[in-house]
Amino acid sequence: MWSPYDAISELYDPWSASVVEDVGFYLDEARRSGGPVVELGVGTGRIAVPIAADGIRVIGVDSSRGMLEVAARRAALAGVEVDLRLGDLRKPPVRERVPLVICPFRSLLHMQTEDDRRLALAVVRKLLLPGGRFIFDVFAPGAEDMAQTHDRWLEREPGIFELARWDEAARTLTLTVRGPDGETTMSLAWLPPDEWRTLLEQTGFEVEACYGWFDRSPYTGGEDTVWIAKRTTFANARTARSSRPSRR
Ligand SMILES: C[S@@+](CC[C@H](N)C(=O)[O-])C[C@H]1O[C@@H](n2cnc3c(N)ncnc32)[C@H](O)[C@@H]1O
Repeated sequence: MWSPYDAISELYDPWSASVVEDVGFYLDEARRSGGPVVELGVGTGRIAVPIAADGIRVIGVDSSRGMLEVAARRAALAGVEVDLRLGDLRKPPVRERVPLVICPFRSLLHMQTEDDRRLALAVVRKLLLPGGRFIFDVFAPGAEDMAQTHDRWLEREPGIFELARWDEAARTLTLTVRGPDGETTMSLAWLPPDEWRTLLEQTGFEVEACYGWFDRSPYTGGEDTVWIAKRTTFANARTARSSRPSRR
């Protein structure tokens, strides 16, 4: 299984060193659920390890062997156990059913097509116990951000550079990350928030909250959205599926 993250698994933690605002939020939600928690796209355990350190069982799935190796080291250093599993989030090697599935730090943007996103959401729904929640965050870039950053190398952290190539019409980002320990290029695809909401509703979820940030402030039009979606009953999901519009 190839992953663009394998080339930057040692770079990922320094690259995301300043991303800390979401940890407490996901930890609070994990406590509220009582666990166990499945994290799809667990990466280096940035979120999973603090949750496990709180005594909550975490199953973490990732398609990058390198990222999982770093996560295992991080868990060992913290003296906690995280159940790490190599696999694709569209077909996760998870038989357990849980009250909470999380997909932090925009990992869902790795789903490139409408079919991929629907498949991922169907999988999440299957992993959840009745009434369980799916919590994730994504972004949709603003025009100004795209204009300012397009095709320019920017230093994100000392010695770690990013090059973003935005395709506004296709709603895709090709992102290159370069640092002393590696370089990679990955593709991301975004949706505007109203389309995420529709997609969630059509795939068997009820949106309980759409925040604009991890402090739970309501979404009022920024780039980031944080979603809390509750698994609906099967009957609702069937109704939603039957009202699915035809694909372009
Ligand atoms: C931005 S990182 C987020 C990692 C971690 N959740 C965090 O908050 O730091 C995205 C992660 O998703 C993983 N990923 C991307 N596509 C995937 C897929 N199809 N199946 C499983 N994991 C995937 C990557 O390997 C990477 O570890």
